[in-house]
Amino acid sequence: MANAKPATQNPSGRPRLIRLIAIVLLALIVLVGLTVLIIWLTIKPKKLVYSIDDGSIHNYNLSNANHLNATYNFILRAYNPNKKVSVYYDKVDIVVMYDDDTLSRGTIDPFHQPKRNATRFKLNLASHDVPLRDDVAREIKTERSSGRVEMTVKLKARIRFKVGAWKSRHYHMKVSCAPIMVHFSTSSKGFQRTICDVDI
Ligand SMILES: *[C@@H]1O[C@H](CO)[C@@H](O)[C@H](O)[C@H]1NC(C)=O
Ligand SMILES: *[C@@H]1O[C@H](CO)[C@@H](O)[C@H](O)[C@H]1NC(C)=O
Ligand SMILES: *[C@@H]1O[C@H](CO)[C@@H](O)[C@H](O)[C@H]1NC(C)=O
Repeated sequence: MANAKPATQNPSGRPRLIRLIAIVLLALIVLVGLTVLIIWLTIKPKKLVYSIDDGSIHNYNLSNANHLNATYNFILRAYNPNKKVSVYYDKVDIVVMYDDDTLSRGTIDPFHQPKRNATRFKLNLASHDVPLRDDVAREIKTERSSGRVEMTVKLKARIRFKVGAWKSRHYHMKVSCAPIMVHFSTSSKGFQRTICDVDI
């Protein structure tokens, strides 16, 4: 009772402890920040680059009831400019669009893209009896008479990055290639290469 010790012997002990914890925390934050900065500078991540290098339409047939049959050939170029980062494409969905209407859907098989690698994919897609809105069908007919039609190709991909032995979590990537001037013929001379927007 009489010899019970006071809770704190030194009244300034608690503030000193708090100050110590604050200094350690601050040092940790600076250390982690520096580590992240150094890793970032070593890897120097660069954006992936996509383009449509060629495109044409074949077997085009638009019925009176505005049902579309056609096949589309696109060359998609995927470029990974990174020296230290390779990319896993675990799932890639493709849509071909005219205005806001989807003409065709497809996929690219999962693949692993090495560092500093450019890969060209031949996309062979088709519309089978796709119903079009009246105004869309009219626009396509008008553009058809000029020999080419303005289309959009979009990709949605689930990707992971690999640096050394470390693999990142999954990211959703959206790629939009527009406007693609697609010709109604096999001769693709004069095709205007289209650089795509990439959003990760
Ligand atoms: C388009 O399809 C219709 C119905 O299938 C057919 O009668 C017509 O010959 C086709 N036109 C062309 C140019 O292939
Ligand atoms: C489209 O192709 C289907 C068969 O795949 C056929 O039944 C249909 O008549 C074709 N339509 C046109 C407009 O050619
Ligand atoms: C890019 O990577 C693919 C798949 O690994 C390979 O087949 C191709 O030869 C590579 N291209 C270049 C230019 O290194």
